[in-house]
Amino acid sequence: MPHFAIMDVDAFLRAADELFDRGPHGHLIPRSPAYAEVSSRVEGMTTANELAVLNLAASLLPADEDYLEVGSFKGRSMVGATLGVSGPIFHAVENYVEFGMQGADARATLDRHLAEHAAHADVRLVEGDGFAVLSTAPYPRDIGVYFYDGEHTSLAHYLALGVAEPLLADEALVLIDDATWPLVARAHQAYLRRHPGWEIVRRWDSTGNDDPHWANGLHALRFRRPAGAPRRLHPDVRAALIAQRRAVGPARKAIWTIMHKAPWLVPLAKRLEPKRAHKISPEDHAT
Ligand SMILES: C[S@@+](CC[C@H](N)C(=O)[O-])C[C@H]1O[C@@H](n2cnc3c(N)ncnc32)[C@H](O)[C@@H]1O
Repeated sequence: MPHFAIMDVDAFLRAADELFDRGPHGHLIPRSPAYAEVSSRVEGMTTANELAVLNLAASLLPADEDYLEVGSFKGRSMVGATLGVSGPIFHAVENYVEFGMQGADARATLDRHLAEHAAHADVRLVEGDGFAVLSTAPYPRDIGVYFYDGEHTSLAHYLALGVAEPLLADEALVLIDDATWPLVARAHQAYLRRHPGWEIVRRWDSTGNDDPHWANGLHALRFRRPAGAPRRLHPDVRAALIAQRRAVGPARKAIWTIMHKAPWLVPLAKRLEPKRAHKISPEDHAT
């Protein structure tokens, strides 16, 4: 039987320490200028530091495993991940719901950025709801690195782990954006309590909302499939999926659609949203 290597998360963590220098104020800054260049060329929300981490992860994938991203927006994170990496298949899922990413224009922008900056890589974009796509269309090969940057609610983050778990290799690296937000911490606590095999192995926390180095924080999780565990959606994930697909997802989509058509509603909507869940305070970050 052929022996395939697995994604070595410990090697990734060791190499991640070498990615950065300390800037004048003690902040981590990527040693390579390539990531800041991507940020300046491709519109988006992922910071240069985060791009450096994604790119390292992609570069360490074993030959028989692939990369998966949910929430591509205009392609910045995918362009960063693929820098100089051409081996794996890079799967991307985007539903063009948030931040005015609506309709054909959004798709055209994402396609153009990928064509201009990631043509060397095998990027396969699926347009659709990430939870529906991941739970219904298994990828042919194991996912060794998974980056989630889609919808940010506690339910969405619970599902982000749950729908991906069956697709992951026996050892996989999972990178979650906006992870310093309290709502993400809550979702991870709940998921990790119920599901063995998961651990948070690195926290690159932000010191406030939208910090220029780590945005709203990036956490690295390791998944090791327990021996004999079946590869299928857990019952609690199935139930959460129904809630997301029948109620929460459509409601959020409707809100973003209305705001796209009536931007004057945005300040009002912000006032109605529970602030604490998306607000980073000193006690939310450990580093
Ligand atoms: C924060 S942005 C992603 C930023 C991007 N990674 C970058 O580097 O700029 C979140 C994206 O997730 C998409 N999204 C939100 N919910 C989603 C879902 N359920 N399935 C797929 N994409 C989703 C939004 O349309 C939006 O483009």
